[in-house]
Amino acid sequence: MVKVSPSILSADFLEFTDEIKRMEESGVDMLHVDVMDGNFVPNISFGNPLIKSIKEHTRLPLDVHLMIDKPHRYIEDFAKYADILGFHFEAGSDNSETLKKIRALGVKSCMTIKPCTKPEEIFDLLPLCDMVLVMSVEPGFGGQKFMPEALEKLKVLRNEINKRGLEIDLEVDGGVNGETAEAAVKAGANVLVAGSYIIGSPEMKERIKYLKSL
Ligand code: DX5
Ligand code: ZN
Repeated sequence: MVKVSPSILSADFLEFTDEIKRMEESGVDMLHVDVMDGNFVPNISFGNPLIKSIKEHTRLPLDVHLMIDKPHRYIEDFAKYADILGFHFEAGSDNSETLKKIRALGVKSCMTIKPCTKPEEIFDLLPLCDMVLVMSVEPGFGGQKFMPEALEKLKVLRNEINKRGLEIDLEVDGGVNGETAEAAVKAGANVLVAGSYIIGSPEMKERIKYLKSL
């Protein structure tokens, strides 16, 4: 069963409580929360104060995607509100230690890779992951075009996860919409992040239903 994780980056935060309600009613599985530091990526989004407020307004699990340098510095902070906490392989942490630390705090761990990283580079880390996130755009902005190269990476990772008998969710993020989602699921993704395709769309409910039906 495909899980849907709407990316709130494209939301109007002052109108957000109604949007969260609509998403809850539409059966989304979690909310995808993009944290950007203007350093690891060329954009700044928001930090823990907003995440704390979101947590107080919903029972949906929060799937926090850190796009920040040296993420090990902030794991304790974000673990307070995250249900799944992901960070980038390329961001300058001791990745295995950081994954272990997330789990030790009772939060699900997620190793995230940019388009430049080969899936084989994270094979050794798989036993420490509850989820793996494959970026299908360069991280930093919503509304970009899906990079088809991500499909092969999803296939390689799904194959390795199955071969090892691990229970790991495989998430894809960036440019997921009515044209690209089906191929991502066929390639092995079982968690779909979708921002501009869902948030603020008058067809939000139908679109969520469609993604979940794949
Ligand atoms: C990009 C973010 C994504 C983004 C997805 O760096 O990680 O989560 O918000 O937005 P769409 O679905 O519009 O590509
Ligand atoms: Zn994201």
